[in-house]
Amino acid sequence: MRIGVYPGTFDPITRGHTDIVARSLQLFDRLIVAVAPNPRKEPLLPINDRVELAQIATKNFAHVEVEAFNGLLVEYVHSRGAHGIIRGLRALSDFEHEFQMALLNRKIAGQLETVFLMPSEEYSYLTSSIVKELAMFGGPLEDFVCPEVAQRLRQWYDGSKS
Ligand code: PNS
Repeated sequence: MRIGVYPGTFDPITRGHTDIVARSLQLFDRLIVAVAPNPRKEPLLPINDRVELAQIATKNFAHVEVEAFNGLLVEYVHSRGAHGIIRGLRALSDFEHEFQMALLNRKIAGQLETVFLMPSEEYSYLTSSIVKELAMFGGPLEDFVCPEVAQRLRQWYDGSKS
């Protein structure tokens, strides 16, 4: 049983992320989508909402679970008995940071590999940040996130206006 961990901030989970989930399941028997608090990025949505939306967005995949994690990723990966880390790579601009993280994680964990997967071209420009910006200005969201995420973002921004 090969277990993969797909970590991220998921603020919120997009169709690009679920595309990576689908691809990961071709390589791993089980996948844990691991949602990090990530105070460095000051996420918009509270962690419980990000976990809940990731659960909703991945509900049609078998062998996927979603949970929050705190602390070092490599320690979390070991605690779950997982075999590898998965990260999506969209463009060259992602590369440098991802390269740093993967090598750092391998250095501190010893032999823990990171697998990089490319999303479908149609999501290669998609980020959680541009989805939030669209939502903030009332733009269309359904091509980029699942309906439940779109609804939650709209509610969030409507609420923050009142
Ligand atoms: O979706 P993101 O924001 O690119 O995800 C970044 C994340 C959460 C994977 C990264 O910040 C992380 O691994 N955080 C946990 C703390 C940690 O282990 N840091 C050392 C590796 S850089």
